[in-house]
Amino acid sequence: AQLDVDAASYEAGEHESFMRKEILEQPTTAQAVLRGRLDERFGTAHLGGLDMDARDLRAVRRVKILGCGSAYYVGQMGAALIEELARIPADAEAASEFRYRNPVIEPDTLYVAVSQSGETIDTLLAVQEVRRKGGRCVGLVNVVGSAIARECDGGIYLHAGPEVAVASTKALTNMFLAFALLALQLGRVRDLSIADGKRLVAGLERLPGQIEEVLAGEADLVEVAKDLAEARSLFFIGRVRGFPVAREGAQKFKEISYRHAEAYQTSELKHGPLALIDPEVPTVALVPHDELAERNVGALHEIEARKGPLVVITHEDVDLGEVSARRIVVPRNEPELDPILLNVPLQLLAYHAAQHLGHDIDKPRNLAKSVTVE
Ligand code: G6P
Repeated sequence: AQLDVDAASYEAGEHESFMRKEILEQPTTAQAVLRGRLDERFGTAHLGGLDMDARDLRAVRRVKILGCGSAYYVGQMGAALIEELARIPADAEAASEFRYRNPVIEPDTLYVAVSQSGETIDTLLAVQEVRRKGGRCVGLVNVVGSAIARECDGGIYLHAGPEVAVASTKALTNMFLAFALLALQLGRVRDLSIADGKRLVAGLERLPGQIEEVLAGEADLVEVAKDLAEARSLFFIGRVRGFPVAREGAQKFKEISYRHAEAYQTSELKHGPLALIDPEVPTVALVPHDELAERNVGALHEIEARKGPLVVITHEDVDLGEVSARRIVVPRNEPELDPILLNVPLQLLAYHAAQHLGHDIDKPRNLAKSVTVE
């Protein structure tokens, strides 16, 4: 039961927009990308479509991820996962820039192209540049048989079903999950222990239900979103695993609410943007329960001292101390998988902000779902 439904017959139905429908579909679509790919016994993933055996996977010395827009930000989340689980240096780059700097293509680097549509011209040309120079490129693509999927040496289909809203939600969640599967497999042919592998497999199996829990809290986010919509400018901050999530959150917010939203590393706040914090400039902060939580709470104090309004996306057991903030709690999973559950409230905040402002949510001004010309 895969979700490769015919796009033409896909309708918003009783939903007021495709974006909201696609957000709400995530518990089901997330299951679709995991289905048949998790190995509980050996704590790993099976990704036949990659067309790489254990020796090929072992030969990978570096991972370079290429994508545009949200696919680029999720690529940064994926790079962090791969480095953590497989201990292979990994990074993401905007595919739109890649070929213009005459990139060095190495035979032992695995190139990963990420694209919902599979038709984004900048990503496609980046793939062609890699392959022309003899590099191996695999695709994380949603649309089966699309140009990028056909151009790649192999890949992981996302099985998110058709995505209509310009702002990517369910496809992005599945991109992250596909990276988790890839990181798991790259990790388990190296030094990731079977115990850690099993821990992550179990975490991935819990995720769809936990996404559902976050979505069940939607009503609580509406008022917060309305307030954020009134701001002229806002910050999204996070660290390490949370920083690309902040970037994606800011991107979503600006795409559909047309408000200036800027992402920053929480640690860099004091090196510049703190000068902009005042009662008119709210900050959405990601403070998961991890080794940096205490330091992150320290940064919240700095914002509060400048009377900056705060919305904090966090876990139940994070102690925010005296900080007065609107707190949005998401369930805990394995820390490596935090980005997904932190991202879902950001989708809802962007959605309800745009809804409050009366914007055309599915077709924001000046933007296209996929950019197929240079
Ligand atoms: C466009 C859209 C973005 C999207 C990007 C990449 O710029 O407006 O929302 O993230 O393309 O699209 P892709 O189909 O390659 O994932």
